[in-house]
Amino acid sequence: MRTAFFPIARCMTLTVSEGRLLPKPSAFEPTRPNFQDLLPLYYAVAIMVRFQLLDTTVMAVKRIAIVTGAAQGIGRAIALRLARDGLNVAISDLSSKRSALEALSEDIRASGGQTMTVEADVSEEKDVNDLVTTVADKLGGLDVMVANAGIALLKPIVEMSMTDFDKIQSVNTRGLFMCYKAAAKTMIEQKRGGRIIGASSLAGKKGLPGACAYSASKFAVRGLTQSAACELGPYGITVNAYAPGAIDTPLARQYVADPVILQQFIAQSALGRIGQPDDIANIVSFLASKDSDFMTGQTVTFDGGLWFD
Ligand SMILES: NC(=O)c1ccc[n+]([C@@H]2O[C@H](COP(=O)([O-])OP(=O)(O)OC[C@H]3O[C@@H](n4cnc5c(N)ncnc54)[C@H](O)[C@@H]3O)[C@@H](O)[C@H]2O)c1
Repeated sequence: MRTAFFPIARCMTLTVSEGRLLPKPSAFEPTRPNFQDLLPLYYAVAIMVRFQLLDTTVMAVKRIAIVTGAAQGIGRAIALRLARDGLNVAISDLSSKRSALEALSEDIRASGGQTMTVEADVSEEKDVNDLVTTVADKLGGLDVMVANAGIALLKPIVEMSMTDFDKIQSVNTRGLFMCYKAAAKTMIEQKRGGRIIGASSLAGKKGLPGACAYSASKFAVRGLTQSAACELGPYGITVNAYAPGAIDTPLARQYVADPVILQQFIAQSALGRIGQPDDIANIVSFLASKDSDFMTGQTVTFDGGLWFD
């Protein structure tokens, strides 16, 4: 609609500035519409713009998003929220999560949203590249990448094996990096800007006991987010990350299942509660929207007031 609008606007400009009733014939061959013929269309577009039935900004068409780690927890809530926001959402997770992905897909469709599922392991470069190209080919591009998939393993530093350390980095750091890279390449080629959003953590702001490998991976997300924001800004692509505190998901239940630890989180939080996946989905909805246009390179903490910048 946007490309349709501007030739009409240019035609009107020509009409006024050059004092002609018709633009140069060569520009409009072979149809040669006259001004009277175009008036109804001009008024229709003007009314649609006035009453916001037609968005003439870059975000005019139905936008397309990918959410990794979408089968459960925070990723699931983000996928549902972006679908509710009107985006066409490709949901992705490990093949072992196929049935949970299918259930999510049904939930999105039942509420009137559009979706597709793609199984991908974000620690495998081929999977990530295939995920992005498949979605871009089938849905018509990529506007929002939410690199949400992540794993946690809590162990003291002296007990953390190199295999465990590398596994965490392969998903949380390398996996997120590959999602950022593949999305950036597609968005640059498309020339219509974009939003890249990654999952950091409160543990990416402050080292926590037992979380050395996890903290290292989530601090890395902040560095990747800042560098990518600098490089991609000129293309109209913003890059931001969310840093949740304790959110009630299968990942967090590994440690908040312990009532003592849960009570510690609650006692230390200004709002006196742990978060729900929808608390993070609300923020990602904003980061994915046009309203966050002037925000990039940030890793924003959402923890109910556990830790202050
Ligand atoms: N829940 C919290 O308290 C919390 C706090 C801070 C940060 N985070 C971060 O938020 C993100 C989502 O966390 P969550 O709590 O929803 O976790 P979760 O364990 O409930 O869900 C994570 C999803 O990621 C998927 N996943 C794991 N490895 C993958 C891989 N290699 N490829 C593709 N998918 C993979 C899992 O299958 C799962 O569906 C993670 O990056 C996590 O580190 C969570």
